[in-house]
Amino acid sequence: MLSRPLSAVCEGRLLGREGRVALIGCGPGDPELLTLKALRCIRAADVLIIDRLVNPAIAGHARPGAERICLAKTLDAPAAITRLLLRHARAGKAVARLKGGDPLIFGRAGEELAALTAAGIAVEVIPGITAAQACAARIGLPLTLRRRVRHFTIATGAGATGGPDLPAALLAREGGASAIYMGVGAAGMLRRKLLAAGCRRDTPVVIVENGTLASERAVATTLEELADCVRALGISAPAVIFLGLAWDRAGLPRPEGIGVFRRQSAFGQARARGPLAPRPAELAGAHPSLRKRSWSVP
Ligand SMILES: C[S@@+](CC[C@H](N)C(=O)[O-])C[C@H]1O[C@@H](n2cnc3c(N)ncnc32)[C@H](O)[C@@H]1O
Repeated sequence: MLSRPLSAVCEGRLLGREGRVALIGCGPGDPELLTLKALRCIRAADVLIIDRLVNPAIAGHARPGAERICLAKTLDAPAAITRLLLRHARAGKAVARLKGGDPLIFGRAGEELAALTAAGIAVEVIPGITAAQACAARIGLPLTLRRRVRHFTIATGAGATGGPDLPAALLAREGGASAIYMGVGAAGMLRRKLLAAGCRRDTPVVIVENGTLASERAVATTLEELADCVRALGISAPAVIFLGLAWDRAGLPRPEGIGVFRRQSAFGQARARGPLAPRPAELAGAHPSLRKRSWSVP
């Protein structure tokens, strides 16, 4: 399929006037997490087509005169984006398609790759650091543990149609952990589905919002408290919810300053009182990066 390596294309060694497309993973936000190959392709591009979550500083590496097209988030955009890619590639342009994280993880790169390949356009995928890797690294949270966490799943909390669509039974399997992307908007639904699938109420949860950016926040809680935590702290996308991972499981202390969210009520009492109303909560500690934004708990 990818018969003509675009790394060569990016260097201008290939294809003459033929257009070509690089689907580039730009990482989770911190521009320093860009790969050298991604940087080289961005600098060589005639046109940049840029996803919403890509840090504008990354597009700033484009050469003067390169056209920049910033995309808005809409559910029906993929077909329009593909047409845009095809139009510029067929006009003989070197197109850099900038995507957040890794382009092959919830990045719809597959659809673009298929359309470009079918049209005979030279295309290459440049991998990027996915949000789960970067967020875990920021807070020193191991994603696998010898003998204890033997499988790690990346799942989405949003279905293809925009609704919550979680493989809950898979995530509840023993000996595993997971990172749930696009889940904070449906935290209540996630919690219910995971509990129904057999996850323990005290399963550790760690949420990282705006990972690697100046506005990063991280908090530790439990599955029982997930929805309360998201609501009380006003956590919003982009955020990764880690399930089944905790520092103590890896023999590590929780990094100084990472917040812990817990309601004051016990699990059973909370349920007995009915729907989750705002309640006093404790927030212990504050990661240095968290101090940049205050957390108000109703
Ligand atoms: C459409 S998916 C794209 C994922 C991307 N391709 C990747 O590999 O990270 C968007 C989701 O990725 C996660 N995400 C992306 N950037 C993030 C960040 N800086 N911090 C936390 N989560 C992030 C969030 O769950 C967000 O809703």
